[in-house]
Amino acid sequence: MNFELKSVSLAQAAEWEVDALLVLCADEVLAASRHAQDPVSVWVQSAIAAKDLEEGTGKLLQAYGLPGVTARRLVFARAGDGSAAQSRKAMLAAMASLKGAKVKSLGVYAGSLGVASVNALVQAVAEGSYAYTATKSVPQPRLIRRVDLGVTDAGVVRSGFELGCATVRGTELAKEWANRPANHATPKLLAEAAQQLAKKPHLSCEVLGPSEVEKLGMGAFLAVAQGSDQPLRFIVLKYQGASKSVAPVVLVGKGITFDTGGISIKPAAEMDEMKFDMGGAASVLGTFAALAECRPALNVVGLIPSCENMPSGRAVKPGDVVTSMSGQTIEVLNTDAEGRLILCDALTYAQRFEPRALVDIATLTGACVIALGGVRAGLFSNQDELAQQLQEAGNAALDLCWRLPLDDDYAEGLKSNFADMGNVGGRQAGVVTAAKFLQKFVQPEQAWAHLDIAGVAWKSGAAKGATGRPVGLLLQYLVDEAARIAAELPARVETTAKPVKAVKAKAGRAAKAPKAAKKG
Ligand code: BES
Ligand code: MN
Ligand code: ZN
Repeated sequence: MNFELKSVSLAQAAEWEVDALLVLCADEVLAASRHAQDPVSVWVQSAIAAKDLEEGTGKLLQAYGLPGVTARRLVFARAGDGSAAQSRKAMLAAMASLKGAKVKSLGVYAGSLGVASVNALVQAVAEGSYAYTATKSVPQPRLIRRVDLGVTDAGVVRSGFELGCATVRGTELAKEWANRPANHATPKLLAEAAQQLAKKPHLSCEVLGPSEVEKLGMGAFLAVAQGSDQPLRFIVLKYQGASKSVAPVVLVGKGITFDTGGISIKPAAEMDEMKFDMGGAASVLGTFAALAECRPALNVVGLIPSCENMPSGRAVKPGDVVTSMSGQTIEVLNTDAEGRLILCDALTYAQRFEPRALVDIATLTGACVIALGGVRAGLFSNQDELAQQLQEAGNAALDLCWRLPLDDDYAEGLKSNFADMGNVGGRQAGVVTAAKFLQKFVQPEQAWAHLDIAGVAWKSGAAKGATGRPVGLLLQYLVDEAARIAAELPARVETTAKPVKAVKAKAGRAAKAPKAAKKG
């Protein structure tokens, strides 16, 4: 699907040769356009006069073959106050009204909606037309090939448009891999996908297998992987958008391609959904795909520990004590608390990059689903500044999270008589004890955050499928971080990196950013 941004009037958009034209309009603009003479405005105003257009964001008016409009199908959608959130709601409603319609080319008219709304619209078009095809015998891919987005002044909203396009690229890759069943998304296949992705400029990838991981001493990761016939993979992705001297942001994604629970086996109901337990890994892959497209001036490392969690004669057993890469020993009291076991070794490994920020993303606990549901991801951080930056990035990207506490008292339950710690606390505050476990593997002075995406990475029920979250949050955070890095640079050093919001810098450009002082 290709997006194009154009400066046009509504009268001009009405002449676009597209199969369907969607017109979004904020209430205020609607009220002010009472006397406009273009065919769409006249039609909408006549409906308002006849009280045929309801009040409310996402309310629609539809027409077929309206005189003066070239597109066969015309959909008008009320965008409320014109904010990104309401524009998104309106766009999703408009896209839903096109379900089943054979639309190959789509026109969207957004008028004077702002940068954030344009970003949200691009993403909503993609979300509303997504189709999973990988394991269908007769694939029915999305029909829309081309989307023309018309606005009053393209220059004003271009940065939002480009960030939206990059986010779509990343979100769709994340969805693709998270949706694939576990027999079509093994650790090996996931690593191959990362290597394929790394062919893009500015990206590189290294993949470690069982023997290398053993040499590194990742005893906790190995313990989870040992019950499966599928060999583990440890994926190291790199994006270089700034000078090598700029400390990277390191992202760590949980890559359990299937979580049976191991010997502490899960009940059968809905166990299929544990194919989504690599949602954190998928979001890291997706974020790298997006980075390759929008090329912000910073460095990012992505780490993905990936394996299956299976019961078998070789599987780790409750009570087994394993030695993590950090040297700390862990009593595996519940083999279903496996995510923290693979992440703790990846967090130890991550610190060799001396990250300016270290962020892990994981479908870590059922307790997080109970606490926050599918609306906000759980956010934990040992640093207020980083927590705020991530929360604000989530707000801007409409990919929300909410900070939860890390008081040391929550770690009480992790005490063990036979190892330095157990891998589970009690029944209470399971989302927090999981975060406290991870924190034991992060140096106190290392800025670290943990996103528990168990509730937001996929939807259950009739709409079962991956959401691609939190690619939007992560990309927004990284683009913002690049802007902060640029602001840190000494003023007299001429920067060749484009201002970060102006994404889609020319190839190679961003890579020539001058040296920046390391943070901290
Ligand atoms: N992958 C699950 C977490 C999960 C469960 C995500 C349900 C989404 C929906 C994780 O590995 C897990 O099993 N966690 C356990 C931890 C417990 C044993 C302390 C859980 O949440 O039940
Ligand atoms: Mn588990
Ligand atoms: Zn899991």
